[in-house]
Amino acid sequence: MKLIEISFDYDIGKLNKELEQTKLYDHTDYGPAKNTAWLKGKALEDCVEVNRIKNKLKFVKDAVFFVQPANTVINPHTDKLCKCSLNILLNDADAPIIIDGESFRYKCALIDVNRYEHEVPASSKDRLLLRYTFSEPFEVIKPILSNLS
Ligand SMILES: [Fe+2]
Repeated sequence: MKLIEISFDYDIGKLNKELEQTKLYDHTDYGPAKNTAWLKGKALEDCVEVNRIKNKLKFVKDAVFFVQPANTVINPHTDKLCKCSLNILLNDADAPIIIDGESFRYKCALIDVNRYEHEVPASSKDRLLLRYTFSEPFEVIKPILSNLS
């Protein structure tokens, strides 16, 4: 399984405010995606809603905001610094994620980014994302998140 939609309560308005408060950096050489346009910012302690969710997650490593600017792509890559990730989309940017040739649209999903190559085509607007990374593989995290409330 490449991706599974996860449903639990989160306040998307608060998450968007916390994204606005977070300092974003461009990462010319960030990770395997080598995306020159991608902006990244680590969510800090003052991000109350980010951390409320983080505290519920077992084996979580990091919580990071990403902005994929309009009309830019995320190149095909596989993530090796984490075992899987929980991605929460924070707006209605219209691009899907393409995982190993298969296209998915999601609001909040656990994704096996460590096993499968994935990419994101361009959106007509900035694509806003909160990403939690995990130190254990998809198969371990999936049943834990399925019981999240
Ligand atoms: Fe990735």
